[in-house]
Amino acid sequence: MTIDEIKSSFDAQITKCGNLTELQELKVTYLGKSGELTVLLKSIKDLPAEERPAFGAKVNELRKQMEDRIASKTEELKKAVLERRLREERVDVSRTSCPSRGALHPITLIENQICDLMVAMGFEVLSGPEIETDYYNFQALNIPYDHPARDMQDTFYITESILLRTQTSAMQVRIMEQRKPPLKIVCPGKVFRSDNDASHSPVFHQIEGLVVDKNVTLCDLKGTLEYIASHLFGPQTKVRFRPSYFPFTEPSVEVDLTCSNCGGKGCALCKETGWIELLGAGMVNPVVLENCGIDSKRYTGYAFGIGVERAAMIKFGIPDIRLFYENDQRFLKQFGK
Ligand code: PHE
Repeated sequence: MTIDEIKSSFDAQITKCGNLTELQELKVTYLGKSGELTVLLKSIKDLPAEERPAFGAKVNELRKQMEDRIASKTEELKKAVLERRLREERVDVSRTSCPSRGALHPITLIENQICDLMVAMGFEVLSGPEIETDYYNFQALNIPYDHPARDMQDTFYITESILLRTQTSAMQVRIMEQRKPPLKIVCPGKVFRSDNDASHSPVFHQIEGLVVDKNVTLCDLKGTLEYIASHLFGPQTKVRFRPSYFPFTEPSVEVDLTCSNCGGKGCALCKETGWIELLGAGMVNPVVLENCGIDSKRYTGYAFGIGVERAAMIKFGIPDIRLFYENDQRFLKQFGK
């Protein structure tokens, strides 16, 4: 293209340009490293020496004009964005009536729903401290100081022996120390880990379930989880156990549900597997029972820890865990109905 052609096509395009992204692209097309004007400037070497100064000056003048145009267009577009926001997000300070009723947070909704189901099955709901000792959070759960399983839970320590609990499993020990079987309890609450991305938050919620009695089996665990899954995600939901490892359960399982989005056929949400992982569980390790003074020859138990955010993300199709904590009304309002 010649200088004049570049000028007129730039003029036509910048006039049409409707947002900052388009403007940035335009800038790259003309002024970028391999942009139109840069290419033109490079062709200077093909000209006779006496024409070069005048040509160079013309190209530089055009570059200056383009840069000025882009700068003023940037201002113009930024102003338009601001004006639109001011118009759309206007608050009527003279308004006196109550604008709308509040609603429960989706995490609270799911937590209530699961606890209600548990209560219907005869479980008792209990809560415990968020600031825990290393003993309840780890040691009594068969995770001594040097155990590699500590690496799975990046912990916020307050002192060497006091921490923010990384799992509601700490409550298993507290309850088993205080009471004797039969036990049938759930403990919802906040837990803390030093993690932060689209699927991990430094604070999140778990619901711990614990049953200890004579003749409790893995089958009882599966039945209970099937009941919860079918009520929470629909009657067609299937539950699958995968072998896993937790120091405080033996055997341990990872529990998957058929994907609520595709029904098990495979989709992007379940990474084409048809299954979504919901929780960790297992039979209470006899070592843990004995740590709490319960005779492991007479009693057995099962335990599970549901990730509440995870359950809510699956149920409502929420792609990023951070949405739960931003308190954006537009997000929260959708769950109030
Ligand atoms: N506490 C485990 C976790 O946070 C989950 C779990 C609970 C596993 C109960 C087994 C039994 O990962």
